[in-house]
Amino acid sequence: MSKVNAILQGTLNWVDERFPLTSNWKAHLSEYYAPKNFNFWYFFGSLAMLVLVIQIVTGIVLTMHFKPDASLNASGVPVAFASVEYIMRDVPWGWLIRYMHSTGASAFFVVVYMHMFRGMLYGSYRKPRELIWIFGMIIFLALMAEAFFGYLLPWGQMSFWGAQVIVNLFSAIPLIGPDLSIWLRGDYVVGDATLNRFFAFHVIAVPLVLLGLVAAHILALHEVGSNNPDGVEIKKKKDANGVPLDGIPFHPYYSVKDIVGVVVFLMVFSVIVFFMPEFGGYFLEYNNFFPADPLVTPPHIAPVWYFTPYYSILRAVTYPLFGIDAKFWGVVAMGASTLIIALLPWLDRSPVKSIRYRGPLYKGFLTAFIISFFILGYLGMLGPTPARTIVAQICSVIYFAFFLLMPIYSSLDKCQPEPDRVTSK
Ligand code: HEM
Repeated sequence: MSKVNAILQGTLNWVDERFPLTSNWKAHLSEYYAPKNFNFWYFFGSLAMLVLVIQIVTGIVLTMHFKPDASLNASGVPVAFASVEYIMRDVPWGWLIRYMHSTGASAFFVVVYMHMFRGMLYGSYRKPRELIWIFGMIIFLALMAEAFFGYLLPWGQMSFWGAQVIVNLFSAIPLIGPDLSIWLRGDYVVGDATLNRFFAFHVIAVPLVLLGLVAAHILALHEVGSNNPDGVEIKKKKDANGVPLDGIPFHPYYSVKDIVGVVVFLMVFSVIVFFMPEFGGYFLEYNNFFPADPLVTPPHIAPVWYFTPYYSILRAVTYPLFGIDAKFWGVVAMGASTLIIALLPWLDRSPVKSIRYRGPLYKGFLTAFIISFFILGYLGMLGPTPARTIVAQICSVIYFAFFLLMPIYSSLDKCQPEPDRVTSK
């Protein structure tokens, strides 16, 4: 052993006697055996981690220059809005940091939606991975809260009116609603107090929760091991040393493979950041280039694309029930449409996990669900008309039917037998 190696080994031993470095490296990387048949869909977990890091790093730099202040400056422009313009024009590379952060917000949802869809394709939420799914669902809710709080900060017209519409929804709750919405805003209308508390939630409270949840998500995953495109449990077939026959060490095999995903992702991300950061008004809405004006309501208020499917479900409820007005039931339906996803592990009764071995019923319902989700997302960006409301109502019924009828169709479905070992398709 050379002198340098001896010093390094000695240092490592010194650390290992005080901190479980080598044992954790082995448990989570070099001796964590992942199924050898991961495909395209398995890139999105590591990409979600990458986007989380991008958002935190760019967010820290933005916080150095942003001012959460709704009062007007000498030119009559809200200070918060002006500080974003200052970042865009005067802070060196500020435009890049800001566009990375705004594009990162949409990228986060693209990546997380793909990641969740993978779970639905391969039944990754099924036993023993229920807790991974539950942690994932709480991450998803925290991510929606994070995006909602962040969207108010630039204090543009859409920021202001979007927050106004969403906080007002809480006032539809019987008895406590009106007081609750004032409590949330800290004022009778969205104002400086709202901006300050949304800033606190956006830059520290929710990110802390997110980081803790992601750690729990990965720990739960490493406790039971990853699923794979065949839905076969690789831990059932091990060699004499206890290593799964269909497993390969995460490092170096998947740590290197994930770099392919990262490179392709960064290429697409850069094209958007440098050439089309507004992305046709989907990532940065045109109306948000106007400073917030409590006296002028924009003609059409729609949330950012990643919220529109749920917003459509909210607007699809047009009938009052039990003497309580439709707005309240819309809020209930919107809440239910996100929470019901968490129940998948208990709704799915299929004998197999992966779509590869499922029958036509599941495939049909999943296709109808995805089509409805896209239609709802599209309709949520448009103003309502009677015809659009009917389409949204039909799609909302399909959306909920996918979940509520799952115990029936998943157990009736004609599935193929799952193989013993993973296939190399
Ligand atoms: C910040 C957001 C998230 C991060 C950073 C993250 C990270 C990861 C990573 C690194 C993996 C392992 C690699 C892989 O299987 O792709 C994973 C697996 C998984 N995630 Fe997430 N995740 C996030 C959100 C979610 C959400 C919202 C859900 C679902 C509601 C979810 C459900 C799952 C499931 C079921 C697995 C196991 C997949 C399998 O073994 O087939 N995750 N996640």
